[in-house]
Amino acid sequence: MPAVADTCPRPLFGANLEAALVEGLAERGWAAIEQAIDPELVPALRARAQTLYARNAFDEGRVGRGEALTGAPRIRRAEIAWLEGEDAAERRLLDGAEALRQTLNRELFLGLFEFEAHFAHYPEGGFYRRHLDAFAGGVKSRVVSFVAYLNEAWAEGDGGELAMWTGPDDTGEPTALIAPKPGTLVVMLSERIPHEVRPAARERLSLAGWFRVNPGVGGVLDPAA
Ligand code: OGA
Ligand code: MN
Repeated sequence: MPAVADTCPRPLFGANLEAALVEGLAERGWAAIEQAIDPELVPALRARAQTLYARNAFDEGRVGRGEALTGAPRIRRAEIAWLEGEDAAERRLLDGAEALRQTLNRELFLGLFEFEAHFAHYPEGGFYRRHLDAFAGGVKSRVVSFVAYLNEAWAEGDGGELAMWTGPDDTGEPTALIAPKPGTLVVMLSERIPHEVRPAARERLSLAGWFRVNPGVGGVLDPAA
């Protein structure tokens, strides 16, 4: 019965929205659009994240683990759970990301190979200090980052804004502060745009994903990718 929805999804992003994302990435390395995600999909994804949270499916992920051992200051205080496409809301988001991947490849020749995404739960006081999602010169993998917000509402004073800088050498004030309002979508070039999640004054839910190129060696596809 759900086969109709599964095989013929409504597009997640209209052509206009995709064009705005492409333009932002090409011209300044990032774009943020309010109410970009279907208003029916946002609560469905939120419910999915809450179900996973209630099942203890979230953990600190890789960023947090090494720090506990080294005693280094924490860069992130949040927990994550990877999307596996196990429910309809996740599949719809992943289908939309797939359509966007094809558009980005067609318009910007990025050669994006796949998309991976996790839910992120920031507790009250949670944060993610300034970072890049990928390092230029390292094994090239994450190329375009994707962040969508699943909060029910977000008010001035709730904190948790996403701060954006223009590039790795920009040590000034951030050029933008994006509130994590329901349905807002941000995309950015993973190697180029430093960003930070300011401390959240209340629980904060986001979905972060990455379009990756295959870092395979010598033309052989990386079997682990
Ligand atoms: C990330 C990230 C931003 C956010 O997970 O790498 O930068 O607003 N997330 O949740
Ligand atoms: Mn990031």
